[in-house]
Amino acid sequence: MQARPETLALRRQLIGSSCKLFFPEEPVKIVRAKGQYIYDEHGREYLDCINNVSHVGHCHPDVVKAAHEQNQLLNTNSRYLHDNLVDYAKRLSKTLPEKLCTFYFLNSGSEANDLALRLARQYTKHKDVIVLDHAYHGHLTSLIDISPYKFRNLEGQKEWVHVAPLPDTYRGMYREDHKDSVLAYANEVKKIIEQAQKKGRKIAAFFIESLPSVGGQIIPPEGYFQMIAEHIHKAGGVFVADEIQVGFGRVGKCFWAFQLQGEDFVPDIVTMGKPMGNGHPIACVATTKEIAEAFADTGVEYFNTFGGNPVSCAIGLAVLDVIEKEHLQAHATQVGNFLMELLNQQKVKHPIIGDVRGVGLFIGVDLIKDQEKRTPATKEAEYLITRLKREYILLSTDGPGRNVLKFKPPLCFTMDNAKLVVDKMDEILTDMEREKTCEPVGNHH
Ligand SMILES: Cc1ncc(COP(=O)(O)O)c(C=O)c1O
Repeated sequence: MQARPETLALRRQLIGSSCKLFFPEEPVKIVRAKGQYIYDEHGREYLDCINNVSHVGHCHPDVVKAAHEQNQLLNTNSRYLHDNLVDYAKRLSKTLPEKLCTFYFLNSGSEANDLALRLARQYTKHKDVIVLDHAYHGHLTSLIDISPYKFRNLEGQKEWVHVAPLPDTYRGMYREDHKDSVLAYANEVKKIIEQAQKKGRKIAAFFIESLPSVGGQIIPPEGYFQMIAEHIHKAGGVFVADEIQVGFGRVGKCFWAFQLQGEDFVPDIVTMGKPMGNGHPIACVATTKEIAEAFADTGVEYFNTFGGNPVSCAIGLAVLDVIEKEHLQAHATQVGNFLMELLNQQKVKHPIIGDVRGVGLFIGVDLIKDQEKRTPATKEAEYLITRLKREYILLSTDGPGRNVLKFKPPLCFTMDNAKLVVDKMDEILTDMEREKTCEPVGNHH
C-alpha cells in the first residue's frame, strides 16, 4: 500500500482539483469500514457522523452478500425481464402513497432529478422551476441551473428559474416569533408564481428537498408543503420532493421525510438516491401514472444502461430488508432523540450553540457568534470539526454560513456514539471559551 503522502501527491497530480477532500490540511486515508466506523491505513478507528450513504452501516454483510450472489448469476440491463426489478419496484411502492406507483431506476441522485425535470416539463408543457434559496439538487448542467448553492458562484440565475426563501424559522426572513410563518413562507412562493405569470412565464415544477440539508439542516414547518402544492398545482406545475439525502427512514417516524408534513400530503414526483444502495450507485424516480404516461406519449424511449440492473435491485432489496429487520427507523428515532437531548443540554452551557434542530438521525447544530443577530460562527464551526477529527470523530458543516454542524451518520449509530461525540464537543467548546481561540490548528499526525 502507498503511504499517505504518496497517495496525496498522486491525487493532486491526477485528479481534478475541484474534487475536494474532507479536511484538506490533513486528509484521512481510509482503507476499510464497518458499521459506523471507518479505519485508516494504520488501523485507527474513526466514528463516522457524516456518511448518510452507508445508510444501514458501512459494508453491511447482508447487502454485500446480496450483491455478491447476484453478481455471480447475472448482471445486465433492464431490457430483459427480471424479477429483481419488479420486486424492488413493488417493495418501494409499499413505502409510498398509492398515487406514486410508477418507477424509473437510475444511477445517481443527479440523474433522478434531471429525469424529474424532464417528466415535469413533458407533463405540464411548461418550462419554469421554483427552488428554495441555497438548494442543491445535483451536478448535471440542468441541475446546477436549479441549485442556487452552485449557480450563484457560476453564470447566475437563468430566466426560467425562480428562487423562494428558505422556510428557516431560526435565521430566515420569518422566524419563530412570527405569528404565522408557514403561511408567510408559502405566500412568498405564491408571490413568485404571480410575478412570473405576469411576465408570461409558466411554472413546470417546484423542487424542494423534503428537509433542506445544504440549506443548513432545516425542518420546514408542518403544512408548508400542502400550501405550496396548492399554489403550484393551480399554476399548472408539479411538486417534486427530493429525498436523495433524507429518505429511507433516516427521520425515524416516517420512511420518507415529506411524510412529516402530514398524511394528506402527496408529492407528484419523488427522487431518491444516496442511501438507497448503501454505497452502490442506484437511484430512483417515483411518480404518478398520469405523469409517466405523458412522458411515454412522446414516443421516445427512456433507456438507462445501468439503471435497474439485477445487481442494483438485489442491493436495493437487501437495504430495505435490513432497515426492517434491524428496526432502523425506531432506532433512528431513539438515538436521534437522545442526541438532540444531549445537544440541547450543551446549548444551555455554551452560548455558541444557537439552535439544535432535527428529526431522527438528521440533526443540525447552528453555531452563532451572537444571540441577537445570530451571526454564523463559521470559523468556530470549522475549528470544532477539525478538533473533533483529531479525536477520531468525523463530522461536517453545512448551511449558507457553513456554521451548522451536520449529523447524518449511518443509522446503526448508537447512544454510546452520541454520548462520545457530545462529550468531546463539550471539551472542545470549553477549551475554546477558555482560550478564546478558534485559530486553525497546525499539522497533527
Ligand atoms: C439533495 C440532493 N439532491 C441531489 C444530489 C445529487 O446526487 P448525486 O451526487 O448522487 O448525483 C445530492 C448530492 O449531494 C443532494 O444532496
